Amino acid sequence: MSEIGRQKENISYIGELFDFIDNSPTCFHAVENMRQELEAAGYQRLSEKCPWKVVMGGNYYVIRNDSALIAFSIPKEGHKGFHIVAAHSDSPCFKLKELPEFCVEEHYLKWNVEKYGGMILSTWLDRPLSAAGRVVVKGADGMVTKLVNINRNTAVIPNVAIHMNRDMNKGIEYNPQTDMPPLIGDVTGKGGYLSLLAKEAGVKEEEILGQDIFLYNRDKCSRLGLEEEYICGPRLDDLACAYAGLKALVEEEPGHYITMLAVFDNEEVGSGTKQGADSTFLRDVLSRIRNGLQLTEEEYQCMLAESFLISADNAHAVHPNHPEKTDSVNKSWLNEGIVIKYHGSQRYATDAYSAAVMKDICREAGVPFQAYANRSDIAGGSTLGNILMAQVSMNTVDIGLPQLAMHSAFETAGAKDLDWLIRALSVFYKR
Ligand code: CO
Repeated sequence: MSEIGRQKENISYIGELFDFIDNSPTCFHAVENMRQELEAAGYQRLSEKCPWKVVMGGNYYVIRNDSALIAFSIPKEGHKGFHIVAAHSDSPCFKLKELPEFCVEEHYLKWNVEKYGGMILSTWLDRPLSAAGRVVVKGADGMVTKLVNINRNTAVIPNVAIHMNRDMNKGIEYNPQTDMPPLIGDVTGKGGYLSLLAKEAGVKEEEILGQDIFLYNRDKCSRLGLEEEYICGPRLDDLACAYAGLKALVEEEPGHYITMLAVFDNEEVGSGTKQGADSTFLRDVLSRIRNGLQLTEEEYQCMLAESFLISADNAHAVHPNHPEKTDSVNKSWLNEGIVIKYHGSQRYATDAYSAAVMKDICREAGVPFQAYANRSDIAGGSTLGNILMAQVSMNTVDIGLPQLAMHSAFETAGAKDLDWLIRALSVFYKR
């Protein structure tokens, strides 16, 4: 069923988003779940290590580092340029250190963790946690990655009791080295972590040569509110936008442009890795499509100038207890539409031209949009759009879904906004 058809019949994508997020505890799992959806939709995998054969009417995807993915669909005839949606696969969390186990006075066993990204530390306390990620083992033809997920409640970072710190409710400064290591059991379980990972991966302990393992919140996504008008759960930033892009891509035939979804890793730590937005990943894929379609450099440059990028990363909604944190006019609300982000110093790439294109897309899709700018005395965050422009330059708009508690272990967003975003991205791809 086409995207627009589904929207007309009022079938929401919320349930599918919940399944996607619940089954994607890390960036690696998110990319694997997207890979499965792309395969089911007939997309063909390309390897960066082999020559590409791409043809008109073909659907393809490529994965880098198991944690970033670019999928694209080439129209059957004609291609004026590229219509790209960008999002990110990672979320702030804790990463387990290479040697992750340590003891407390020969009684407790803890995981040795460090921060990944700009997280709200307190939100990780007093809730069931577990660990997931990837391990690398040596295969017959080189190194092989295996995804792992200790899929049960395994760890907790307990608060100090109020009786032991009467100033607890006056604000606490958390030290990530001493306050945040999670308890994983009695000291009798020492060494059990590696055997658990090996069992999950289906290999022997000594075969594991490398590991990228992260803590994750065990909470599932759900609806919330008197009228169930909100959605809540972990990793909404930015898996909600990644999923919206995926659904729009696979369900909409490309119009006159090559349609693309680019999901990068490491946005939360500055994007400066080979699989981040500041890498050559997008540029490499674009130029290999160029080679595959046997375009001249001149034709390719004309296509880039004709292209458009929607950088989709969640935005701040007005906080119910602290409305003063947002600009008095340029502010966004849950369930009131796609947020177009503006920034005077261009940390958001939106300008008059790209805003006009985005508003036109929203109008055609029949979905509401709203404007966001930071308070002029608050720095705000950065995102993918302007980082990508250093590698490949094209007209770009920064947008997102409005949400609360960004970078908490548990975030809240509007139930209506996701479907609106999918509808708008479908119009964008269809153009
Ligand atoms: Co984000």
